Amino acid sequence: MTRTITIFDTTLRDGEQSPGASMNVEEKVLIARQLARLGVDVIEAGFAFSSPGDFEAVRRIANEVEGPVICSLARAKPGDVDRAWEALKGGHKVRIHTFISTSDIHLTHQFRLTRAEALARAVEMVERARGYVDDVEFSPMDATRSEETYLCEVLEAVIAAGARTVNIADTVGYATPQEFSQLIRAIQQRVPNIARAVISVHCHNDLGLSTANSLGAVAAGAGQVECTINGIGERAGNAALEEVVMALRTRKDVFAADTRIATEEIAKTSRLVSRITGMSVQPNKAIVGANAFAHESGIHQDGLLKEKMTYEIMRPDSVGAGKTHIVLGKHSGRHAFKAKLEELGYRPTEVELDQAFERLKRLADQKKEIFEEDLETIITEEMDRPEEAYRLVSLHVESGTETTPTATVELAMGEKTVKAVGKGDGPVDAAYRTIASLTQTKSRLASYVVKGIAGGTDALGEVTVTIEEDGKSVMGHGADTDIITASARAYLNALNKAAARAAKRGGEPKVGLI
Ligand code: KIV
Ligand code: ZN
Repeated sequence: MTRTITIFDTTLRDGEQSPGASMNVEEKVLIARQLARLGVDVIEAGFAFSSPGDFEAVRRIANEVEGPVICSLARAKPGDVDRAWEALKGGHKVRIHTFISTSDIHLTHQFRLTRAEALARAVEMVERARGYVDDVEFSPMDATRSEETYLCEVLEAVIAAGARTVNIADTVGYATPQEFSQLIRAIQQRVPNIARAVISVHCHNDLGLSTANSLGAVAAGAGQVECTINGIGERAGNAALEEVVMALRTRKDVFAADTRIATEEIAKTSRLVSRITGMSVQPNKAIVGANAFAHESGIHQDGLLKEKMTYEIMRPDSVGAGKTHIVLGKHSGRHAFKAKLEELGYRPTEVELDQAFERLKRLADQKKEIFEEDLETIITEEMDRPEEAYRLVSLHVESGTETTPTATVELAMGEKTVKAVGKGDGPVDAAYRTIASLTQTKSRLASYVVKGIAGGTDALGEVTVTIEEDGKSVMGHGADTDIITASARAYLNALNKAAARAAKRGGEPKVGLI
């Protein structure tokens, strides 16, 4: 039978403890509304006692956000518990979450309390909270570094005092998955009244183990997971909601557990939290990173185009992340390139495809990211390529503040290759004059337009030229990351079109630069 795990979201409380991630009340309400749409069971809206802003956020969310249980954190102190209730009391479904440390490290060095004093305080504050509301959660802070027998005594006492959820906190992200799931099993065996409470887990990510520890705990019997959107939180953060939820959904066969989360809302929620907190999501972050559904390897792309299951364990649309993203780059295969062009509406011949593919590979060596606009430029150039009377083999241009611009151009013309060096008023002029002398053509350059495609200093530059011959205009296009090379390509493209036109007319091409 599949168990339903309670998802307790603490983005607005522990998540806000990420350095630099503080949010104002309006922003918290906005996120809380989205968390409700996402379908979380509990929203920890803040720590009411900690500041007037937190109090107001808890109050407003409790009053305005419907669906989830709204919770406030409270230290095991009367003032904290009372303030939490003050903030929550207008809401329909509310919870007070109180906590105290149970590890000797914390009790001795930080709180200066004996174990007995801490236990008494925990019981007293759970009872105080129960005086206000039935739904009370207790967390033994630093549980994973606490002595197990004492931890179990505290849990038994707080459950007897009325705690409905006991939250086992790996406060400093110290536990390993084996240890943590073993601890959850031990609690079930050693706490006599444990069946009266839900076992929750709260894992920090200091060793990158927060998701693994949370899942291990679920497998061992935990019924609630505390987590945050994008895994934000104190220091290295908390278990990421999206990872826990999608692991349970994708591997239901292993965990026999699922959640009530509307997973299609995950990407949107992630973007909202990232935008509001200013904490960007690393591209390779599981589930919500920009690359989570992007495939660059040619072998993977080939497999995906045949059957998605080959390299995709989740569908991107299941987390609201749109479509699988085939990234064209230096590792891509011809098959993926062709599929992408077809998606863009191009049906190149095999020869055009081969030539465009070769250019894509060269471009991928020069440029970090290939955009759709780059592909369109390459393919339209290849599909619009006339019979080539002249082909650029190499180009070298020297120019600068102290140098007369000089171009060395090598062209393939039919069977032979010709090379020449020429000067000009600028690098483009030098290249054009040298090409004109090599091709022995005469034309007037009527227009020259250059534009960057897709942004960035490594962008592909596209040059469009119009040359005139006998009162007729011919347009040529060229693209390259090097603007002078793009200019040479554009000029040769126009010359080739003029040559093809002249050949059709049965005459000799008569173009040349004036
Ligand atoms: O990490 C922690 O121990 C906490 C508690 C308040 C649950 O955030
Ligand atoms: Zn925490």
